[in-house]
Amino acid sequence: MEILLSPSILSADFAALGDSCARVADAGADMLHIDVMDGVFVPNLTFGMPVLRALKKRVAAVYDVHLMIDRPHRYVREFCEAGADWLTFHLEAEPDVEDTIEAIRAAGAKPGLSVKPGTPVEAVFPYLDRLAMVLVMSVEPGFGGQSFLPQSPGRIAALRREIERRGLTVRVSVDGGVNAATAPLCAAAGADTLVAGSAVFGAPDPAAAIASLREACRGEVGA
Ligand code: DX5
Ligand code: ZN
Repeated sequence: MEILLSPSILSADFAALGDSCARVADAGADMLHIDVMDGVFVPNLTFGMPVLRALKKRVAAVYDVHLMIDRPHRYVREFCEAGADWLTFHLEAEPDVEDTIEAIRAAGAKPGLSVKPGTPVEAVFPYLDRLAMVLVMSVEPGFGGQSFLPQSPGRIAALRREIERRGLTVRVSVDGGVNAATAPLCAAAGADTLVAGSAVFGAPDPAAAIASLREACRGEVGA
């Protein structure tokens, strides 16, 4: 699989969100990563469906929505109607993982499941054949600009091995502290989707930042 770059709007200029997202989409981002936080599952608050709906009308892009909210099943339909193309939720936040995955598919989006750094990546294995993506958190979810946790490539590799062993086509995404130094470690371990907030939206020239991330991964497994 080719590497997809999904810049996280958490590091965007929220006072100029539409322009900022349009600029990053035009700069060659494959998707836009939308971090939704509820102040319960994570100790931070961001935004919800209205902001996604407004962006979807203003900026043509693939919307990769990352729900960091408690009991996400409650909001699946609304996020899909608002424009989520991919909808990822946390294993730790949802008592009924299977139903939530099916609800996402039924609503027409691609289901993703995410795990925090302290959750064994093996916990997603029972759901792999129904998922389109697994999002491996490489920082504690809640805030942008944190440092990449060094155990993350090992977790990515274990997940990739299991996906290959079972002959599945599930994307492996990594989120948190991804930059030109850490991206190649992720790609080499088997990640095919990279979320980067501060490294792209925080950069003075997003097109140059995207190019340098792609360049850093060139030659790695999957790139
Ligand atoms: C963190 C979010 C990330 C965050 C990444 O909870 O899920 O998507 O924006 O930001 P950086 O790339 O700055 O670590
Ligand atoms: Zn995220």
